[in-house]
Amino acid sequence: MPRSKTQPPSRQTRRDDTASVLVPKVTPKRFYGQGIPGLDSETLNGKLIAVEGADGSGRSTQIARLVQWLEATGHHTIQVGLKRSTLVSEELEQAQQGNILARTTLALFYATDFADQLENSILPALRAGSIVIADRYIYTLMARDLVRGVDETWLRNLYGIALAPDAVFYLEVRPELLVQRVFAKNQSLDYWESGMDLGLSRDMFDSFLRYQGLMRDTFRRLQQTYGFDIIDGERSPDAINQELQTRIEAVLAGKA
Ligand SMILES: Nc1ncnc2c1ncn2[C@@H]1O[C@H](COP(=O)(O)OP(=O)(O)O)[C@@H](O)[C@H]1O
Ligand SMILES: [Mg+2]
Repeated sequence: MPRSKTQPPSRQTRRDDTASVLVPKVTPKRFYGQGIPGLDSETLNGKLIAVEGADGSGRSTQIARLVQWLEATGHHTIQVGLKRSTLVSEELEQAQQGNILARTTLALFYATDFADQLENSILPALRAGSIVIADRYIYTLMARDLVRGVDETWLRNLYGIALAPDAVFYLEVRPELLVQRVFAKNQSLDYWESGMDLGLSRDMFDSFLRYQGLMRDTFRRLQQTYGFDIIDGERSPDAINQELQTRIEAVLAGKA
């Protein structure tokens, strides 16, 4: 019958399409420094995608859409983020509430939280071939510390354990727009995201604008070292998502 003659080729085409989406092409991974001793990075078959950006830059909005899209196209995904380790996240939260830790200690605390997630969430998921989406990565931690005067060489050394992601997207949004979005969402500003510990201004609104300006400058500087993609985060969520999908498709195909 004519139908059975035409069916097999079209099915074949569909299967091929699906297969090219399902299996991310394995590309070499590297650590920024020594990495984790004894780890064979060739066993890391998945992809690590980091989404960076200030409070209110749209990370959660974009990540939710990306996860939906990736899962719908057959990829297993896991999400990680700052202060989410099982090891120290509660203690870190408590320490921040009280504003009791010195800068270096706080930096080490965050690095511990990161290392725990790297070892126990990120690397096992990559070994299993999953896509790991990081809601912020070491660049935010470095930028926060750099703005507070922590030594850059010391920080680079500290984060030498980090795996270089397959893609890093920095959602850039003007501080003036960030403040509007954060207010609309939470009706208040966060003490730390406003950099109130730095004493830039007594007025939280003013401090937020200054602090986020410093963070943006630092991110631009870090971008020159680490080469991540700066994404214009002031467009519509749809337009941003379209760009991210296109870039991630290239990553999955091993072309980026
Ligand atoms: N592209 C965008 N344009 C306008 N508003 C946005 C955009 N992306 C996110 N928002 C809104 O801004 C607020 C902060 O977004 P969110 O995704 O929670 O940011 P983040 O996770 O980076 O803090 C939310 O109320 C969200 O609906
Ligand atoms: Mg968020």
